[in-house]
Amino acid sequence: MIILGIESSCDETAVAIVENGSTVLSNSIASTKEVFANSGGVVPEDAARRQVECILPTLHAALHDANMKAKDIDAIAVTRGPGLLGSLLVGTVTARTLSVLWKKPLIGVHHTFGHLSSTWLSADSIPQFPCITLSASGGHTDIWYRTAHTKGQLLGRTRDDAAGEAFDKGASMLGLPYPGGPSIAKAAESGNEKAFNLPIALSGEDTLDCSFSGLKTALKNTIRDEVRSAKCELRVCDLAASYQYAICAQLVDRLKRACAQYPDVQEVHIVGGVSANIRLRDLAQEAVRNLRVRTPVEIRLCTDNAAMIAAAGFFIHRECEAGSTTNFETAATIPLDAFIS
Ligand code: KG4
Ligand code: ZN
Repeated sequence: MIILGIESSCDETAVAIVENGSTVLSNSIASTKEVFANSGGVVPEDAARRQVECILPTLHAALHDANMKAKDIDAIAVTRGPGLLGSLLVGTVTARTLSVLWKKPLIGVHHTFGHLSSTWLSADSIPQFPCITLSASGGHTDIWYRTAHTKGQLLGRTRDDAAGEAFDKGASMLGLPYPGGPSIAKAAESGNEKAFNLPIALSGEDTLDCSFSGLKTALKNTIRDEVRSAKCELRVCDLAASYQYAICAQLVDRLKRACAQYPDVQEVHIVGGVSANIRLRDLAQEAVRNLRVRTPVEIRLCTDNAAMIAAAGFFIHRECEAGSTTNFETAATIPLDAFIS
């Protein structure tokens, strides 16, 4: 089954064509990251305007790269939320229009369910359930125990900021460009992560939740103290490395605990923009030695993309075909209200 996916929840305009939830036939992304590099984050109105400009060229590029026409597409999947309203409208209106014009079924996909499906794309082997999945991006940080694509239990989530948001805000405090994850990771390469002892939140509590607001404050206070006392320049690389370590160590601590609670787990998956972080991947693999830690096979499949939406659409569609319901939204037995923060 060939699905055309559309993702426009934030500042990326993405269209992709994926076969059977795993083979990526094209994956076209127009990013506006450079537009927001110096503004510390995404400006919703500007993001929506860029979506309007980019959606049709991106759609054409996806069809061209896959060498396909409308007649080759079996269904259309689109991110239905959560996200920035103006940006989402561009993708959903486009998808609805194509669905009517091309007479193809339309599948609404929750953005996070897209990320959860991203480890199936171009995978070297079929991922195994049950798995523990950490999904960490700029908008959410969730830990799931999953027994099937749309069956699972939310074990923990952030109580305040998302992990990606913590990277973005930390970068802004350190004077590094948006998005913060890649710029902190780059600065951290030449820093010492033991230089500053930043807190790992909730490590003494019996919980799989996360929290990053205290860490953010600790970074702010550390920068203030450094600036006051420093005889030389602010040690940005050491601060970036220590801050990155504190975020990753917290996420890995929760992953490790989740695995200990579910001994039948076959694999650990890390998805979402933060899964691009190499230090996080290394720490996670060290922590759960006997389990395979799977991440999306390419960095562009970690951050927002439409291939993951097409894959998720395929899994939802397959479940509907096999099951009792024809309502694509309620087909997902992962409680969708659990995603809404
Ligand atoms: O999944 P995503 O593209 O968009 C949302 O759904 O939010 O995630 C974007 C987030 C940003 O906060 C960005 O700073 C973070 O992912 N990110 C990273 C890295 N690359 C992107 N965080 C840590 N390390 C990275 N290499
Ligand atoms: Zn995302």
